[in-house]
Amino acid sequence: MTKPTVRPANPNFSSGPCAKRPGWSLSQLATDSLGRSHRAAIGKARLAEVLDRSRSILGIPDDYRIGIVPASDTGAVEMAMWSMLGARGVDMLAWESFGEGWVTDVVKQLKLDDARVLKADYGHLPDLSSVGADRDVVFTWNGTTSGVAVPNGDWIADDRTGLTFADATSAAFAMDLPWHKLDVTTWSWQKVLGGEGAHGMIVLSPRAVERLESFSPDRPLPKIFRLTKGGKLNEGIFKGETINTPSMLAVEDHLDSLRWAEKIGGLPALIERSQANLAAVAEWVERTPWVDFLADDPATRSSTSICLKIVDPAITALDDKAQADIPKAMTKLLEGEGAAFDVNGYRDAPPGLRLWGGGTVESADMKALLPWLDWAFDAVKAEKAKAA
Ligand SMILES: Cc1ncc(COP(=O)(O)O)c(C=O)c1O
Repeated sequence: MTKPTVRPANPNFSSGPCAKRPGWSLSQLATDSLGRSHRAAIGKARLAEVLDRSRSILGIPDDYRIGIVPASDTGAVEMAMWSMLGARGVDMLAWESFGEGWVTDVVKQLKLDDARVLKADYGHLPDLSSVGADRDVVFTWNGTTSGVAVPNGDWIADDRTGLTFADATSAAFAMDLPWHKLDVTTWSWQKVLGGEGAHGMIVLSPRAVERLESFSPDRPLPKIFRLTKGGKLNEGIFKGETINTPSMLAVEDHLDSLRWAEKIGGLPALIERSQANLAAVAEWVERTPWVDFLADDPATRSSTSICLKIVDPAITALDDKAQADIPKAMTKLLEGEGAAFDVNGYRDAPPGLRLWGGGTVESADMKALLPWLDWAFDAVKAEKAKAA
């Protein structure tokens, strides 16, 4: 196959940190809050602006709290689990690497007595209907490393007595999150809106706040995990009074992407852009024999972390290591050409490719990438055949 001539204008397809918004430039960021106290009026105002704009774009109900917390999405998920789990039994859902990580936390670190683990292999979802409405449940809305997302929140009971904990870091700003089904929701800035890594976001339903104020776990909680003060919610966190010092540069950068999101039409536009990227890939997969989605059920296909497996029989006949070498070699080739960066699958996932399709990626770039994938596959396969 001849080498394509048109490269994606922005070849960044990493699943985190993700591509910056179209037209982003460092020089456009406000800098007047930098080198100042984050507790000064200007710093507090910018932090509050992140909360207000995030709430407005995502349609978060007025009676839910939203706060900025330390240590990215991991910090947000872990502070929630350490603060709230143990009041009742918990169902832990895992179908890829990040969900597995939360299982490890609960089983090996928190050592909770009544933790039920519901797992599925890469490409599948566990049986969502077996989640108990009287139990807490921890899950990733979108499994970033397998490209499998829950299709909706219908499996979550409206009259549940347990709390739902959704790690939504690669779903928020790209997928519809039904807030009435979610009690604790987390994400980080470097994902769908292409911000900088550092800070986590946490959203709490009134029932999550009630848990925090009525349940005091018998375990030490480091300062950066503490959401309460004297048994009451630390309301300051939800007004922009962060637990410790944030990066104001990251804040200004995030505000830039939030303003962009509003300008293009808010959440519906972000979802539409992401869906257009998935549709472009799906159309190509349909007519391309060597590749398929890792997600088994089309209803669970992620529009952000689009994970693909190589199904060419000449490749699937190889041993595991040789199979894993194929996407690695393709990635190297594509990087050398400046056609695509960071498209190899996640290290713990089955060998394959992972293309980020969130709203900061232009669908023209996604479409321009696809012939390059064909070209790289042909080149690597031919090389492999020659070496054999
Ligand atoms: C589903 C999921 N959970 C957690 C994380 C960890 O996020 P962070 O690096 O923001 O802590 C990631 C990162 O890719 C993720 O995709």
